[in-house]
Amino acid sequence: MNYDELFAYVKDELAAYDHHGGVSKNRIKYSRFEHTERVYRWMMILAEDYVDKIDMEALQIATIFHDIGYSLNKEDMHHHAEDGAVLCREYLKSVGYPVEKADFICDLIARHSDKEALHSEDSPLELVLLMEADLFDDTGAHGIVMDAWIQATKEEVSFESILEHIKKFSWKQMQNNPMRTEKARRIWEEKKELTNRFVESLTVDLYGGNL
Ligand SMILES: [Fe+2]
Repeated sequence: MNYDELFAYVKDELAAYDHHGGVSKNRIKYSRFEHTERVYRWMMILAEDYVDKIDMEALQIATIFHDIGYSLNKEDMHHHAEDGAVLCREYLKSVGYPVEKADFICDLIARHSDKEALHSEDSPLELVLLMEADLFDDTGAHGIVMDAWIQATKEEVSFESILEHIKKFSWKQMQNNPMRTEKARRIWEEKKELTNRFVESLTVDLYGGNL
């Protein structure tokens, strides 16, 4: 399988969405394709420990296509996972990919935004790894920068309002570790520690006190 070709296909399909549409992330022209590239990198790091136990090709294809459903640019973004599975199936069919293997890949895409699937005993490891990788994007240092960027697009912006925004989103999100596999749980804890220390330090910078 030529993964570069798959990335190029998904990039093309997402191009329209990346420049308009979307929700709060649209304020900063959030690129769904760049998100996909980052999720793929996280997935490769997390999957490293399980290469003998998983269908790596299926996981790679599912990760590349996991958010292609956004390209339909519908008002209701909640269906992007199911839409993505349909679009991926069409693509795999067009290149003559075996139907049974395509079924598994499309099932991963269809279920990747179902939060309960991450901790369900029935979920294949490939789905767990895809969901963990997806959750890692925009967290920790990256989440802090994104929060600051989003807040900076607002008319009333100050250091204090940026700190409040970070506390409301990134900091809050990091407090409960949602990860399931060992390496992912550890990386989350590191990101959480960094986020906590950042918020503490910036609070001292803006309001005084001791670190
Ligand atoms: Fe995603």
